Amino acid sequence: MKQKLAGIEQAAAAAAKNVSSEADLQQERSRFLGRKGELTAIMKGMGQLTAEERPVVGALANEVKVRLEALFSDRQEELRLEGLERQLLTEQLDVTLPGRRFRKGYKHPIVKITEEVTEIFSALGFGVAEGPEVEKDFYNFEALNIPKDHPARDMQDTFYISDEIVLRTHTSPVQIRTMLEQAPPVRVIAPGTVYRRDSDLTHSPMFHQIEGFLVDHKVTFGDLKGILTTFIDECFGKGTEVRFRPSFFPFTEPSAEVDIACVICGGSGCRVCKQSGWLEILGSGMIDPEVFKAVGYDPDVYSGFAFGMGLERIAMLKYGVNDLRLFFENDLRFLRQF
Ligand code: DAH
Repeated sequence: MKQKLAGIEQAAAAAAKNVSSEADLQQERSRFLGRKGELTAIMKGMGQLTAEERPVVGALANEVKVRLEALFSDRQEELRLEGLERQLLTEQLDVTLPGRRFRKGYKHPIVKITEEVTEIFSALGFGVAEGPEVEKDFYNFEALNIPKDHPARDMQDTFYISDEIVLRTHTSPVQIRTMLEQAPPVRVIAPGTVYRRDSDLTHSPMFHQIEGFLVDHKVTFGDLKGILTTFIDECFGKGTEVRFRPSFFPFTEPSAEVDIACVICGGSGCRVCKQSGWLEILGSGMIDPEVFKAVGYDPDVYSGFAFGMGLERIAMLKYGVNDLRLFFENDLRFLRQF
């Protein structure tokens, strides 16, 4: 039995020395010391020995076991260090290599124009509000004095989600949401994405608008003209010629569309302004008393004006972009210019 134990110890020591990986070592370890290992088998078979042999062989087997445990764990540490050494040699890091450059990002022209317009109105005391793009019919139409059978609904080419839910066709519903939440005086602009079933060279089914409105005591059409003229001066340059042209919107009365002298030809007539010398840039008007009633403002106490404009159009005119589709194609050669 003693000899057998000595043989096992020798064999285990040789095996541990021979392996070159921690995984192989683990396997060898269990071959000798595991639950089904050779040494374990001897210890399990001790019952067959005589009463005199048992303590002698038992003690011996235990000593062998302790020595082998130590041997295997020493060898494991040795292999771990060898592995680390190998890793350090092969995975060298050349700190003198030049770093990778990160390409600078650019703001999309629509983001840029949104920020510019927002900044101009912020300086005039306007706060910024937002509303959902999936909107209730009530906010998008009903409360803006556009009932279900109103012909103005045809103008809007609406995407309907259901009878009562639409993709907002303009940013005007944010007027309603804001007025329902805040009492006058209010002075707010609302930039955002809007949707219409319309797609051709000059129309995209998804585009952007900025809405603005102001409500207080004794607000007049003169205030509207003053604010919008100031905005146009800031946005297109001081002294840009402006024209207010009578128009119609269900939510304003009276209403006006605002034109600026053509930024391309300066007013003499060209292809861009269709020879008229003028470019329409926004819709506006005095907020209709019906709208005030829908949000619980007293039209005898308050008055206000509102306006809305398409941001793609403003960006095209201001940055000299001649094709609407450029905004949505994400061609880096175009976007890098902003
Ligand atoms: N909501 C209008 C549209 O989408 C634009 C507009 C016109 C907004 C007149 C206004 C306004 O606030 O007063 O065409």
